[in-house]
Amino acid sequence: MALVSAKEMLTKAKAGKYAVGQFNINNLEWTKSILLTAEELKSPVILGVSEGAGKYMCGYKTVVGMVNGMLEELNITVPVALHLDHGSYEGAKACIEAGFSSVMFDGSHYPIEENIAKTKELVAVCESKGLSIEAEVGSIGGEEDGVVGQGECADPEECKQVADLGVTMLAAGIGNIHGKYPENWAGLSFETLDAIQQKTGDMPLVLHGGTGIPEDMIKKAISLGVAKINVNTECQLSFAAATREYIEAGKDQQGKGFDPRKLLAPGADAIKATVKEKMELFGSVGKA
Ligand code: 13P
Repeated sequence: MALVSAKEMLTKAKAGKYAVGQFNINNLEWTKSILLTAEELKSPVILGVSEGAGKYMCGYKTVVGMVNGMLEELNITVPVALHLDHGSYEGAKACIEAGFSSVMFDGSHYPIEENIAKTKELVAVCESKGLSIEAEVGSIGGEEDGVVGQGECADPEECKQVADLGVTMLAAGIGNIHGKYPENWAGLSFETLDAIQQKTGDMPLVLHGGTGIPEDMIKKAISLGVAKINVNTECQLSFAAATREYIEAGKDQQGKGFDPRKLLAPGADAIKATVKEKMELFGSVGKA
């Protein structure tokens, strides 16, 4: 199946009270693990690409070529969206040009008027090409690709203004942060989430910083309108732990010479396990 916009899968998720996982990709092994797991579990999936990861993978056209090739050669039948994560205005335009099926324009660091103006322009471009677009209000805390946010709670009225521009999905800060949560984290603000959902109605809401949020909070967030949950750090941690274990056990020294395919295999399997666990928690298994 060719790449699809995330619109239909998220509309169904919001109506069916489950969430589609966005798993960020960094290389061929991660991409393959995520696609094979989605296919095995018959789950829709969103592949997230940060601007930094896009550069690392030789640019957006390489990413599009790799993902399209895998969809065909791995016989992937479940809906897959290729989505720019936390894109700049220029990054979003470059991904649209390169063949992504979905983009996020993160204008949360601009004054709201400028965020609205830029989001509006990109909504029109995406609409004309049948692509989905995510906007953000209220910055998500923590650090991602060198961008540091403070984890604020979005203003529900501003969320409504941005949702009304015709975006496909809306990321709103509700105290969530990227990376590991600190010991003294106050938790998600369900009061804010509830207020945002009341103002934005059917709009699928996006929860960033999906790593390390307790299961009961994930379930409550889904019950209050979250239809897409982003996970990145947890895949990084499981990949690193499995690779480290393999090397520390001296397994990379066995046999003749050094085989990079064997070295990366335990990490790739660890990502499959993490993705499976998340898809089961988010309720997207069997929803393709
Ligand atoms: P984590 O790295 O905390 O899982 O967050 C991922 C994310 O929100 C990507 O946009």
